This record gives sequence, C-alpha cells and structure tokens, in this order.
Amino acid sequence: MSGWVRVCATSELLPGESKVAWDGDTPILVVNLDGDFYAVEDQCTHEDFELSAGVFSDGQVECTLHGARFDLRTGEALCAPAYSPVAKFPVKVEDGAVWTRDDR
Ligand code: FES
Repeated sequence: MSGWVRVCATSELLPGESKVAWDGDTPILVVNLDGDFYAVEDQCTHEDFELSAGVFSDGQVECTLHGARFDLRTGEALCAPAYSPVAKFPVKVEDGAVWTRDDR
C-alpha cells in the first residue's frame, strides 16, 4: 500500500470534469460529480482499455470500446460486456488539492 497521490488543485477539477492520476503503475480516474469526488481504476474490466476515454453522463462512464457502463460512485458494472466492478479508490480534499491512492 502506498501513500496519497496528489491529483490536482480542487480548482482544476470542477463539477463534470475528470482527471487521471497515477499511483505507481495504477491509473486512477478521478471525477467531480456535482461537487463530490470519486475515483476508480482507469481500466475497463472487460478488456484492458482506459475508461477516461469514455463517455460520461449521469454519474456513469461508458467504455468507448464495446459500450460497457460503470457507476462512477460505486464502480459497479451496469451492463454487458463487463460483469466485474472496476476498483474503487478513496479520495480526499486537503490543502486545496484532490488526493487519491491505490489502497489495495
Ligand atoms: S473494453 Fe470496455 S467494453 Fe470492452
């Protein structure tokens, strides 16, 4: 388990926006949904593809490769062809910045 990774200043991640941060080899997709921050692994669980390249709406992201959808708040897989949830990571706001970590 590693320490917290700084994503960006809170002012750089406004509602509806997203950023990708790295904790070691783990890409982490961090989103601001209506003022609350959430983080999931930036990797579709269907095949190895970045969710950050997907289409965001209603707190969900749709993978551009084959259309699987995930709940960004819970990581839950919402439709085929993905059946496994994407890993969800903690987020904190401290010193005017957004932080996350791979806590697995
Ligand atoms: S890689 Fe994401 S739906 Fe297939």
